[in-house]
Amino acid sequence: MSSPPRDAPLLFFDSGLGGLTVLGPTRALLPTAPIVYAADYAGLPYGQKSEAELAARVPALLGRLVERYQPRLAVIACNTASTIALAHVRAALDLPIVGTVPAIKPAAELTRSGVIGVLGTEATVRQPYVDDLSARFAGDKIVLRHGSPGLVTGAEAKLRGDPIDPAVVARAVAGLRDQPGGDAIDVIVLACTHFPLLEEELQAAAGPGVKLIDGAAGIARRIAHLTEGQEWPQTATPGIAVFTRSADRPPPPLAALAPYGIGRIETI
Ligand code: DGL
Repeated sequence: MSSPPRDAPLLFFDSGLGGLTVLGPTRALLPTAPIVYAADYAGLPYGQKSEAELAARVPALLGRLVERYQPRLAVIACNTASTIALAHVRAALDLPIVGTVPAIKPAAELTRSGVIGVLGTEATVRQPYVDDLSARFAGDKIVLRHGSPGLVTGAEAKLRGDPIDPAVVARAVAGLRDQPGGDAIDVIVLACTHFPLLEEELQAAAGPGVKLIDGAAGIARRIAHLTEGQEWPQTATPGIAVFTRSADRPPPPLAALAPYGIGRIETI
């Protein structure tokens, strides 16, 4: 396969700003990679949507974005979209697609107590994909799950510089801990890309004996591996953030995205 054009971007896709937690470590590995960051604000929150809706919406929207920006690779930087629609997207589009799935395998290697918590969206935690990961990699562990829409709202607020309600974070952790066996949880998988934006708050609520893990560093390595040998620009250029138009949710101020190398905001 011939190498893509030097300025062909990496396309990151999420319902909102959570995918920035995947973009961050990717930029650290590929500092001059041109970036398009796409957020489906018209569809946020994905965690409250049905499987059928996401299985149709995500491939259609990614198809439009791929046509418009001609990326070399697309990253579904969203656990909800990945666990539901990854196969549909791969079937529909002819470019490498990297998904984001709950880091249950590393959690199973890390736990000492044998009890793992998985914190995701309501849609993610009910997926058969998560059943499969648990059976394959944590068959001899207890895997407790909880879906928290409040943390998605909280993460969006934090990135805009708005206050977060500590009760929402406490409730999310309690949603795991209050289940039978939950007080033995020593590793929590952050199975939604929004949640590492609240890492500090979640760590404070979970306490020092609990490790929080997510898959972002592994995804960044996977992207670097899949693009190995390709040409990149000599210097970094400002990335583009594109938001689907939503009447009640305007894009965040550019200053909130600038630390992630974004220099321009578009709406579609
Ligand atoms: N960031 C998304 C995830 O990783 C979902 C947030 C939402 O739209 O509910 O699951």
